[in-house]
Amino acid sequence: MENTLKKNDELEVEILRLGANGEGIAEFSGAVIFVRGALAGERVLVHIIKVEKTFYVAKLVKVIVSSEFRISSPCKFFGKCGGCDLQHLAYEKELEFKKDLVAGTLKKYAGITHEVQQVTSGEKCYHYRNKFAFPVREEEGTVKIGMFKTNSHQLVDIDDCLLQSDKTKKIIKIMKQFMQENKVSGYNEEKKTGQIKHIVVREAGDGFILTVVVRDKNKIDFMPLVELLKTQFSSFGVYKNINLLENNVIFGEKDEYIYGLKELEKNEFGIKYFVNNRSFLQVNDEIKNLIYWQILNEFDEDEMVIDAYSGAGLLSVIIAKKVRQVIGIEIVKEATQNAENLKKLNNICNLTNKNGDCAKIIPELAKSLKGDFSVVVDPPRKGLDKRVIEAFLIAEPKKIVYLSCNPATLARDLGVLVQKYEIEFIKPYDMFPQTANVETLVKLNLKERV
Ligand SMILES: C[S@@+](CC[C@H](N)C(=O)[O-])C[C@H]1O[C@@H](n2cnc3c(N)ncnc32)[C@H](O)[C@@H]1O
Repeated sequence: MENTLKKNDELEVEILRLGANGEGIAEFSGAVIFVRGALAGERVLVHIIKVEKTFYVAKLVKVIVSSEFRISSPCKFFGKCGGCDLQHLAYEKELEFKKDLVAGTLKKYAGITHEVQQVTSGEKCYHYRNKFAFPVREEEGTVKIGMFKTNSHQLVDIDDCLLQSDKTKKIIKIMKQFMQENKVSGYNEEKKTGQIKHIVVREAGDGFILTVVVRDKNKIDFMPLVELLKTQFSSFGVYKNINLLENNVIFGEKDEYIYGLKELEKNEFGIKYFVNNRSFLQVNDEIKNLIYWQILNEFDEDEMVIDAYSGAGLLSVIIAKKVRQVIGIEIVKEATQNAENLKKLNNICNLTNKNGDCAKIIPELAKSLKGDFSVVVDPPRKGLDKRVIEAFLIAEPKKIVYLSCNPATLARDLGVLVQKYEIEFIKPYDMFPQTANVETLVKLNLKERV
């Protein structure tokens, strides 16, 4: 690209489309300009903040001609906090954007032109999360609790988050009051000082568990916090977690129970399970349930199913209640342990939980099962390991039900699997409204063996 723009240049551009992260995209002399907050069809004034070899990043200065789908965002922190990408776009258009994103990515990277269904959404496009993890920081004596700005370590102090339940506002307020009244300090990243680094809250039903992550072993008396919480809530638990490491990982190894509920009980699909802040579970219950129902629907009673990348094993147990046999595979030890506990709690006998890397376990398993099985895969953003795909192509499971959180890696993987598989459906789900993320469920059936 001939760089014809410089940092700090200002110019007017037309926004042609939205990019994978929900940012507006304009073109200038053969290069693209990414403008967060701008919408397709708008004419905007932008300020160049980054010049790269093949693209520019610009800040939106002013909307000159507005899209008819631009709405005023309900959250006062939108645009400052990095949590949401699309609050300025009418929700029906957000769903359209996600459908187009999936279809466009599959076509661009894998030449797949199969119909992509309408995005399934839930009843809630706000207040849908059951978990938050907010950093706590202190600068010049002021405690901040909130979310980082996009791609930065600058914390935006928020007093509420509209993606969370209405308890959030009260919990943040109480936390700040507790810290102020009891002279408890927040973490200062530059100076590496301060006591509290994060607060993490998981909700289920009316209850919640609050974990306060502290960065030193100094004793903090948490009973005043418990007393403040009691004035507002009746069903909650409090834990302390010690994390001595200066990195981005939220939790340290050790949790210390302080007060109230130890876990939250849930009952779904006839399965009883317990949730805490360490549980590896989806954050949007409504959409999670819709997806799990759909997945369950795809398997028959007499099938043997591999649940690859199985997390805490909730889906494995749900499927095991229907089919002949299930093998769950998960790399994180604690998650496999959760899965084992869940299996015992629900007296499930036809499920085996294996701890390890799918890339190693699946090729071994596939050899012994010789095609007489089906699979459900729910990998992290990087998608399926090559060795997993190769094992599928050799062993030929009858069906592959693929749940993806990244259209780009989904496209890459489908591009290979279609050698032997036919796509039955591509169904996107809006698991994370107001953000650019989209979950996609794809069902693949083995083509007739020649
Ligand atoms: C998107 S989550 C899916 C969790 C689960 N299916 C659910 O619905 O809650 C992906 C899971 O894959 C696990 N994982 C990541 N890489 C893995 C690998 N190479 N082998 C096995 N599991 C892996 C992660 O620890 C995580 O629990």
